[in-house]
Amino acid sequence: MTEGTADPGTESPIAGKPRLKEYDGEGITVTFEPRRCLHAAECVHGLPEVFDLSRRPWVLPDAAAPGRVAEVIRRCPSGALQYHPAAGGAAEAPDAPTTVRRGPSGQLVVRGDLSVTGRDGVRHETRAVLCGCGASGNQPYCDHSGPCAEPDDDVAEERQGVPGHPREVSRNPPRGGR
Ligand code: SF4
Ligand code: FES
Repeated sequence: MTEGTADPGTESPIAGKPRLKEYDGEGITVTFEPRRCLHAAECVHGLPEVFDLSRRPWVLPDAAAPGRVAEVIRRCPSGALQYHPAAGGAAEAPDAPTTVRRGPSGQLVVRGDLSVTGRDGVRHETRAVLCGCGASGNQPYCDHSGPCAEPDDDVAEERQGVPGHPREVSRNPPRGGR
């Protein structure tokens, strides 16, 4: 990100809490946790008018109906994207039964009613991709530091250019404002 195009999403670096960016809309608030984002597919392809990597802010929650925004966010496998509906809206219901799928390089893709213990304590989750190799710097979540970063990984080629993703940062000069 270059100066002058800083993403105005509000970041919440509260001690003991995950670092999130928050995008407030009229009908829905979207949060984004950059370190958990693993690929650029479901959000940007599912609702490009809301999720657009070439724009700052890259998330415009009011650019589609809240129900559509929520539906596309539920497709985000990593849980990097979450939503909070305005008063009266239904919160995300966890999948039942809970499912666990092991990726080719060890990642664990889980969906359901989850309690995930990590550096920020116990978090209630509905979607997560957990590290299965031990290399992630964002345990217990996968961050593509391990063998899952290989080109034959099923999502590797799709994660370029995602705001704040460690891979993007490593390819480009460090940039502030994210
Ligand atoms: S992992 Fe990242 S790129 Fe993929 S759907 Fe979630 S937020 Fe979008
Ligand atoms: S499985 Fe991806 S970093 Fe460990």
